[in-house]
Amino acid sequence: MPHRYAPPKRIFKKPKLNDRTLAISVTFFLICILALIIPLGAIVPQRHVRKLPINILVPLYMSPAAGGWDLLYSAIIKHDELDFTVIVSPYNGPGYSLYPAGEYVEAIKVLKAFTNVQILGYVNTDGGNRDNKTVRQEVETYAGWNTTAGLAMHGIFFDQTPFEDSPQARRYLKNISTTVKRSKGIKWPRTVIHNPGVVPNANLTISQVDITVVFEGVYGKVESRGAMKRRLAKIPGDRSNYGVLVHSAPADISRGGLRRLINNVRQNVHIAEHPTLEFIVILNPNSGPGAPPWWPNADYVREIPKLNAQHNVQTLGYVATNYCQRPMADVLGDVATYAGWSKSFETSGLGVQGIFFDETPNLFSEQVKIYLDTITKLVKDSHGLLGNRTVVHNPGTAVDSRLAAPGPDVTTVVEMSHASFQTPEHQQWLETSPYDRTRSCYMVHSVPAEEVEEFAYGLRGRAKYLFVTDLDVGYYQSFGKSWNLFVEALTRS
Ligand SMILES: *[C@@H]1O[C@H](CO)[C@@H](O)[C@H](O)[C@H]1NC(C)=O
Ligand SMILES: *[C@@H]1O[C@H](CO)[C@@H](O)[C@H](O)[C@H]1NC(C)=O
Ligand SMILES: *[C@@H]1O[C@H](CO)[C@@H](O)[C@H](O)[C@H]1NC(C)=O
Ligand SMILES: *[C@@H]1O[C@H](CO)[C@@H](O)[C@H](O)[C@H]1NC(C)=O
Ligand SMILES: *[C@@H]1O[C@H](CO)[C@@H](O)[C@H](O)[C@H]1NC(C)=O
Repeated sequence: MPHRYAPPKRIFKKPKLNDRTLAISVTFFLICILALIIPLGAIVPQRHVRKLPINILVPLYMSPAAGGWDLLYSAIIKHDELDFTVIVSPYNGPGYSLYPAGEYVEAIKVLKAFTNVQILGYVNTDGGNRDNKTVRQEVETYAGWNTTAGLAMHGIFFDQTPFEDSPQARRYLKNISTTVKRSKGIKWPRTVIHNPGVVPNANLTISQVDITVVFEGVYGKVESRGAMKRRLAKIPGDRSNYGVLVHSAPADISRGGLRRLINNVRQNVHIAEHPTLEFIVILNPNSGPGAPPWWPNADYVREIPKLNAQHNVQTLGYVATNYCQRPMADVLGDVATYAGWSKSFETSGLGVQGIFFDETPNLFSEQVKIYLDTITKLVKDSHGLLGNRTVVHNPGTAVDSRLAAPGPDVTTVVEMSHASFQTPEHQQWLETSPYDRTRSCYMVHSVPAEEVEEFAYGLRGRAKYLFVTDLDVGYYQSFGKSWNLFVEALTRS
């Protein structure tokens, strides 16, 4: 009689959240799209690869004489959807004269005619050992190029910058980077790139640096994604702040070669994030949407548009149902409030793409069925909700199959501790769930930290939507130390 099995008591309570806890008040579900875990180019026709903004960093240290830059020109024309950041280095730096040689002047003017190109001057820092005065002078030499029409630089690429923290290194990097940011001769955006060639100490990723090159080397030496991701997690910024320089057969920048190079860069730039994962973020400002004018408060108004701007994030609004004991009018009111958020979506970016109904019953009754079908349909019909208007029910256990006809998009069939989940009794019970992997969500807490990765990896075949954490209290209030391991498990191929 599996239906009589009493699911373990749900021990958690979602606390009311105040402003100060906002940063950690979102719950992440992860959808693991297994097909996309294999490197994109390998299985997905190119036109299906979702394009992320790519900026190709080209260390153009060769001379433009004798058509040396022609292949770059044709690549820029051919790939006008990409942005190119070209680093020029006439004499391992700007050289000692006021201007570079004539062929450089001409070639740089050609490059500057393209709207998808910015040009940076190369300055070596020799691990921070090069005299800071000399470094500043080289920056000023590049800045002086602005007096020739069409020759001004857009920023400076500092090569071989220090990666280990020390007060001197911090002062040095701040000093030379600020010099660029304040230089009138360098054109907007006055891009500053540091190239330590490895992930640097977080204390060196100061505000004046726009991009840090966190890997430089041959493609074969690119570290395992995991190792780099773990180290990137320690420094601020997102993928737009990181670069990688991959040396792969620069001698054969023929058409195929360039394509490969671009693909390599594309894949490696992604190391800084998780493009293969879809995130569902459940927003819960005040045990629900809260009431205007207090909710959503300034923190939500600022952060939600950022989430909505991510191609791999869906935002859902949290709505309590109290096992269908909550008056339906209140539930509908909450959904309407979330729908109202998107009134000025074009300018505000506010809005949610569906609803997460918490505490829905798992046992069947006519009343329950009508209640759940009504609120589910309401979401699907709410014009103010964005995207696919995804509906998630959270009974936290397997439901009676009559509730699954047709049921919501996704059902949280597991929300419990690792220990309870592991019992044979519970595993047997789960087999009664009418939902297959694509409609199932598992949320498991109190997993021993050292087991999180293998455990989450093992669940991928059973539920498309997963949340696994080592935390045993407040697991929706912070990420816990196992967060990266969990994400690791879902991106592993
Ligand atoms: C610049 O170098 C001089 C020595 O040549 C040193 O005294 C000074 O502290 C350095 N300044 C910075 C900002 O690194
Ligand atoms: C850089 O350091 C030098 C001396 O160490 C100082 O004269 C200069 O003002 C500093 N520049 C900036 C932008 O901090
Ligand atoms: C060129 O840069 C200098 C400072 O290096 C600045 O004074 C001047 O206004 C700039 N000229 C142009 C045309 O931008
Ligand atoms: C950064 O510097 C502070 C001291 O100023 C130090 O306590 C901290 O450990 C450093 N961070 C890292 C990542 O080394
Ligand atoms: C919305 O649904 C369509 C069709 O099922 C799917 O292809 C698409 O990925 C969904 N979008 C999101 C954001 O889930």
